[in-house]
Amino acid sequence: MTLERRAVFLDEMGIGPLWQRRDMPVATETPAALEPMPAVALAEERTVAEQASVIAAVPRAPEAPPSSAVAGMNWMQLKESVAGCVKCGLCNGRTKTVFGVGDEKAKWLFIGEGPGRNEDQTGEPFVGPAGKLLDNMLRAIGVKRGENAYIANIVKCRPTDGNGRDRPPTQEETAACMPYLERQIALIQPTVLVALGKTAALSLLGLDPETPVSKLRGTVHRYAGLPLVVTYHPAYLLRSLPEKRKAWTDLCLAMTTYANA
Ligand code: URA
Repeated sequence: MTLERRAVFLDEMGIGPLWQRRDMPVATETPAALEPMPAVALAEERTVAEQASVIAAVPRAPEAPPSSAVAGMNWMQLKESVAGCVKCGLCNGRTKTVFGVGDEKAKWLFIGEGPGRNEDQTGEPFVGPAGKLLDNMLRAIGVKRGENAYIANIVKCRPTDGNGRDRPPTQEETAACMPYLERQIALIQPTVLVALGKTAALSLLGLDPETPVSKLRGTVHRYAGLPLVVTYHPAYLLRSLPEKRKAWTDLCLAMTTYANA
């Protein structure tokens, strides 16, 4: 990608101007135009009200294949299994399952939380405004949906609260769905995983639900032996624009990790 094109994409992310590299394949310096940064409280990605609105779903009787069967599936079997999954109560409210999208041989795997309203309707992850930002983040690092990048979620069905609003998946829902993501990762064999937001990061790393994303950034973690970089969820970035600069720093870490893998 030309420097000019990358500058356009970074501008789309709202974090232009383009950072100039010296000798490394990725930028490591803060652009002068972004300094000084306003002091931003490290807000959690969900408000207390959103967290409080989480309700426990009542799981239906499991009729889906056990995790051990999922672990041996090919792509077609896995897609069919997800499409018909009734392993948790989320199946009751879904319009479509959201399996994941992209290059099945991708070296970059981006993992979000779970489908929202738009994704539930279309069956594709990240199709709303957050998806547009994610696409711009992908372009900024020189990949795109379907070209060396795959996008998946922790859960494949949309979690909603009692008012029909999006909410994070419960631990039970996450546990029920994880075997599908684990199999996707095993089939794709990506070089780098990028966890988008708290739910993805904590689910993959098995950490305490109180751990803030800010504590996980800046470190290359491991998931199933693969490098995992944590950044903010695009929906959070849309609400907290100053954090985009940090997201770019995270993508730079991911690019360095990719280059060194
Ligand atoms: N947020 C996510 O985490 N995943 C989607 O697919 C859409 C929004």
